[in-house]
Amino acid sequence: MHKVGIMGCGIVATFRHIPAILETEGIELGAIFDPVPAKLQKIQEKFGFPAEKCFTDVDEFMKSDIDIVSITSPASYHVENCECAAKYGKHVMCEKPLALTEEEARQMINVMEEAGLNLYVGLVCRFAPVAQEIYRVLQEGTIGEIRSMRLIFNWNCHGKYRNDDDTGEYGINRRREGRMFEGGPMVDCGTHQIDLARWWLGSEVVNYSGFGAWVDEYEAPDHTWLHMDHANGAHTMIEISFSYCHTVSEPRSEFIYELIGTDGVIRYDRSEQSLIVHGKEQRLELPQTNDLGFNGMYAELVKALDTGHSDLLATGEDGLIATRISRESTEEAIQKRDLMTSKI
Ligand SMILES: NC(=O)c1ccc[n+]([C@@H]2O[C@H](COP(=O)([O-])OP(=O)(O)OC[C@H]3O[C@@H](n4cnc5c(N)ncnc54)[C@H](O)[C@@H]3O)[C@@H](O)[C@H]2O)c1
Repeated sequence: MHKVGIMGCGIVATFRHIPAILETEGIELGAIFDPVPAKLQKIQEKFGFPAEKCFTDVDEFMKSDIDIVSITSPASYHVENCECAAKYGKHVMCEKPLALTEEEARQMINVMEEAGLNLYVGLVCRFAPVAQEIYRVLQEGTIGEIRSMRLIFNWNCHGKYRNDDDTGEYGINRRREGRMFEGGPMVDCGTHQIDLARWWLGSEVVNYSGFGAWVDEYEAPDHTWLHMDHANGAHTMIEISFSYCHTVSEPRSEFIYELIGTDGVIRYDRSEQSLIVHGKEQRLELPQTNDLGFNGMYAELVKALDTGHSDLLATGEDGLIATRISRESTEEAIQKRDLMTSKI
């Protein structure tokens, strides 16, 4: 039985990682760490987790009975959390974005390699049933060879304003603001789509360019586009927004995957709950399926820990590439805006 320690007891740990760990065979929750005692207490109460396995002291946490660490802290702490795990000989599953810069991502890869430990990245969308189904259809060649993809996730990142989870006071949504300070929607969510495009196509990104629009007033654009050329000649367009209905009382979101091939199209639309394959000889309506994949990711992690190998989990290099492309394309968009405003 593998024992996972959670570093960072916030939203994604509470609602995604811990439930998935508890539901996955071969793995159990060994300990939890957070520098903020109230965060630990919330998880303790919610899951009835023993107090003696909850730590605010990182060294005590690392010395407890765990053999892998899931890093679920904000991205700015990933590198220090990873270095600490390496020091104590623990494998790492790190939430996306792997790091805030390519240099930090490289540092994490190096420190884990030097310690002879595995570094996996929680690019969980690969494990969503819908993504797995699309991968299967592509392998069967039902829509021929993919030439173009449109991957869209326009949402409000929980809204510009909200009740603060801790104080209950209504004001600026600090969580969304934190993501904007980290680099905005492409750096945060876009890493998933960049990874999916590379994984579905099995073809590296050779050229890319970023564009932005500013609905809010952060340095990073809150509505972003990324164009990527792949080595096999295919093209991917990714559109991610944090300001789509960000101030409205009844928001909607757009989550769409479109894969355009030489012999047809695959279209997934989350709000319509549909995954449709328009093939040359058939129109398949596949069962409605969701796009989360934490259980699948942890099941694969168990296999990887048992065998020392996984073809499916995203590696440190996958995380680094997603970090590099999302970060550089966002910076390019900011530079274009600066150039434009300097001409006015
Ligand atoms: N894969 C997904 O679908 C998905 C969804 C949401 C968030 N995320 C990612 O998960 C990570 C956490 O996001 P969140 O929304 O849960 O954030 P959050 O702010 O809700 O939680 C982060 C927690 O980390 C703790 N923390 C602060 N400093 C720390 C440190 N030095 N070491 C360990 N923990 C520390 C905080 O006290 C807090 O409890 C981010 O990288 C985010 O991008 C992924």
